Amino acid sequence: MTKSALAGRDLISAADLSAADIAQLCARAADLKAEYRAERRHAGPPLERRTLAMLFQKPSLRTRVTFEAGMTQLGGHAIYLEEKTVLGGRETVSDVARNLENFVDAVMARTGPHEVVVELAARASIPVINGLTIREHPCQSLADLFTLHERFGDLRGRTLAFVGDGNNVYHSLALMGATVGMHVRLAHPVGYGPSGRVVERAGELAAASGGSIGFTQDPREAVDGADVVYTDAWTSMGQEAEAEERRDAFARYQVNEALMAVAPGAVVMHCLPAHRGEEITSAVMDGPQSIIFDQSENRLHAQKALLVELLAD
Ligand code: CP
Ligand code: NVA
Repeated sequence: MTKSALAGRDLISAADLSAADIAQLCARAADLKAEYRAERRHAGPPLERRTLAMLFQKPSLRTRVTFEAGMTQLGGHAIYLEEKTVLGGRETVSDVARNLENFVDAVMARTGPHEVVVELAARASIPVINGLTIREHPCQSLADLFTLHERFGDLRGRTLAFVGDGNNVYHSLALMGATVGMHVRLAHPVGYGPSGRVVERAGELAAASGGSIGFTQDPREAVDGADVVYTDAWTSMGQEAEAEERRDAFARYQVNEALMAVAPGAVVMHCLPAHRGEEITSAVMDGPQSIIFDQSENRLHAQKALLVELLAD
C-alpha cells in the first residue's frame, strides 16, 4: 500500500479535509464496504497490531461501536476510556496526550469543549480524531458524504436542506458540503443559528468550489427542490437544561410527511439518536425517503477508511 496523503494527520474539523481527501476516503470506504460485505474480513489485514485509544466524555452508540468494531475488523484493537479515567481532571489534557502517544497509534476523542480535542491534537504526535465536540462532528459528515456519494455520485450542485439547530452536526456538514461544491441550506429558529466563524469558513469554501451556504427561518422554503433533507436532535448532549425551551422554539421545524410533501424527490437523513415525534416523525424515519439506517451503517465503513488512510503503512 502506498502511503496516503492523509497518513499521520489529525481530523479535528470537517474543514481539515480537501475535496481530494474526501474523494480518496469515499473510494477507500467503498472498497472496504464491498470487501467486508463479501468476506466479513479484510485482506492483510491493514491495521494489524495497531491500537486506537477512544476517549469519551459523553455517551455514544454509533461512534463507539463503529470505531471499536472497525479496528477489530481491520486487524487492530481499540481501548475504551471513560471520562473518569481521562480528561476528568485526574491529570492535564497535555499529560494525557504525552502518555497516550507512547502507548497507542491514534486517539479518537468525544469531548464537551472543542478546545480539548484541539489541545490533544496539538500535544500528541500521533493522529487525533474528533469523535464529536460541541462545535463539530466531522466523522459524521464524512459518513454522510460517503452515503450521498453512493447514491448521487458527484455531489457538486446537489442541495442539502438541514432543518433544525445550527449545531455541531450542521457545522461539519456545512463545511464538508461546501468543500465538495454542494448547496447547503439551513432552516433554523431565530436564536438557534450556527457559529459565525463556521459560517464564514464554509462561505469561503463554497466560494472556491461553486457551492453555497444559505439560511432561512422557513423549513418549507429550505426543503423545496432539495436533494437531501437532514435533521438532528433539537437538544444536543450537554444542553439538557434547555430541552423544554427548545421543544417550543423548534416545534415548527419537525421533519414530517407534510414537510416532505414539499420535497418528494429528496432523501431523508438523521445522524441519530433520533427523538421520534420531535424533530422527525416515525412515518418519515421509517418511510420510503429515509436512508437513515444506510447512513448509520456507513459510519463503520467511512471511519474504517479514515483509520486505514491515517494509519496504514
Ligand atoms: N451519530 C452519532 O455520533 O451517534 P452516537 O452519539 O451514538 O455516537
Ligand atoms: N447534535 C447531537 C449529535 C449526536 C450525535 C449532540 O451533540 O448531542
